[in-house]
Amino acid sequence: MKKLACILGLFLALGLSATSSSVAAEELKSLRGAEAVKGDVPSENYRYERDKATQQRQYVQQPPLIPHTTKGYLITKEFNKCLDCHSWDRAAETGAVRVSVTHFKTREGKELSNISPRRYFCVQCHVPQTDAKPLVGNNFKPAAGLVK
Ligand code: HEC
Ligand code: HEC
Repeated sequence: MKKLACILGLFLALGLSATSSSVAAEELKSLRGAEAVKGDVPSENYRYERDKATQQRQYVQQPPLIPHTTKGYLITKEFNKCLDCHSWDRAAETGAVRVSVTHFKTREGKELSNISPRRYFCVQCHVPQTDAKPLVGNNFKPAAGLVK
């Protein structure tokens, strides 16, 4: 049975590599053209916007934008630089906004006494701002309830 699975796997791999090589022949392109795809790393190609006060949200459920640079702010399994300032025990001292209580709830709805794993990698949802030009135009307007 194991042998059969192995042979099957080999056939699958061969089949897949045949299709992927025909796909690779097409050039990779982003909305800004093929050149823009190369080395598209914000810290190398764009400048962070200057630090500023917290920004208005565009819709009620929006993760607030990060109003400061995050250069060198490391987030690993063992260490989270963001929590150095944003955790509840540090916020008063650092002047950062405390992470909200929603960040302590697990996927199953259990309340933890520390950040929930699903909210640990902050930059999955919160993004710093750079001087990058918008990729495409749009006419998005903030949700009516949030307009000042
Ligand atoms: C050195 C301290 C410090 C570190 C480290 C830090 N922040 Fe902040 N952060 C602040 C301060 C202070 C503010 C409030 C800015 C203001 O109101 O002037 C802020 C604001 C924010 C806001 C806006 C909150 C709102 O209500 O609009 C977000 C989101 C945020 N930070 C996310 C992050 C993330 C994600 C990281 C890690 C990548 C991080 N911060 C690291 C100090 C820090
Ligand atoms: C899965 C997405 C997600 C992740 C991951 C996440 N956040 Fe948030 N965050 C949100 C959303 C959505 C909001 C706004 C609604 C709310 O408060 O839950 C928010 C709100 C905030 C606020 C504003 C709180 C307030 O009272 O106005 C801060 C500060 C913040 N997050 C910091 C962080 C930090 C620091 C991390 C990492 C430890 C993090 N967030 C991880 C989605 C996320």
